[in-house]
Amino acid sequence: MKEKTALSLITPSNIPTLGNYLGALRNWKQMAEDNRCFFGASDLHAITVRQDPKDLRRNTAEIFAVLLALELDKGGNTVFVQSHVPQHAQLAWALNCFTQFGEASRMTQFKDKSASHADNINVGLFSYPVLMAADIVLYDADYVPIGEDQKQHLELARNIVDRINGIYGDVLKVPEPWFGKTGKRIMSLLEPTKKMSKSDPNPKAYISLMDEPNVILKKMKSAVTDMNGRVFYGEDNHGVKNLMDIYSCCTGLAYDDIEKEFEGKGYGDFKAKVAEAVIEELRPLKERYDKLINEKAYLEECMKKGAGEASAAAEKTYRRVMEKVGFYQL
Ligand code: TYM
Repeated sequence: MKEKTALSLITPSNIPTLGNYLGALRNWKQMAEDNRCFFGASDLHAITVRQDPKDLRRNTAEIFAVLLALELDKGGNTVFVQSHVPQHAQLAWALNCFTQFGEASRMTQFKDKSASHADNINVGLFSYPVLMAADIVLYDADYVPIGEDQKQHLELARNIVDRINGIYGDVLKVPEPWFGKTGKRIMSLLEPTKKMSKSDPNPKAYISLMDEPNVILKKMKSAVTDMNGRVFYGEDNHGVKNLMDIYSCCTGLAYDDIEKEFEGKGYGDFKAKVAEAVIEELRPLKERYDKLINEKAYLEECMKKGAGEASAAAEKTYRRVMEKVGFYQL
């Protein structure tokens, strides 16, 4: 029996990027071996930004197929779609009432997204981290494997848990964030001071996990590098540093080794090698995904199985909280 539990979700706003893979999905695979894991597609989070219903359904199926292609449902673990488990939205309501307006206002992602979607600053966007807290605590998660951009949301989740436990006794488990040694923050290929994001309007800024090899090579070739022409890990050469991070994640090489490998060589050689390493890293995943995405009946069967397993686990925590808070139980 696995002792510890891990949970993490990914929002189906597009096909995941290399950033999602190196910062999160790859670590989920590692966690899945030793922990009881729940992984899923956070479609409830997706609608904080306006979505075309057809696209949302398609993206949800695609992300779910990626999770299956990574074999995250194997070894007694569960892969599910968030909206198939109603306890997430239900518990989020209760947690909203234990979250201070001030602390939610400090979330940098809320500030960034409010700026980029100024015409739709909805209340859901504001309380999104509270829903994240509900996702995590429902499964009594010990670990939450995430990229660096989600760190602040996890701190808020911990504060909410501490507050509730302070009032009612130890009702909820305090979750720990879990980061990989490398790849915590992969940057945009075109603006390397910004994180690589699947919702970037320019697809050249990111590598999608399902990009064909020739597309990956082309995007890498147009990645922003530096004026000085050298491959080295310096403070200010963000573009080169980002490509070195990606190369290091895919090959396991340390920065020193990478600097030696490309000493006296130009960025053309370097970018071609980074592209090759990424293509090889993603190849097995893409092959499995291409088969799965056309098996609609199988995907739906797995979604149902996942929803059943996740609901059974979530219901226990949900009841525990409702009872402690004082809701009349029948
Ligand atoms: P999302 O879909 O934006 O990202 C999914 C995961 O990928 C990580 N990530 C990155 N890591 C490194 N470099 C990048 N450029 C990069 N971009 C994204 C994210 O940190 C994340 O781990 N709200 C979350 C999903 C969520 C969740 C949760 C996560 C919903 N509920 C509960 C953990 C626990 C999100 O939209 O992630």
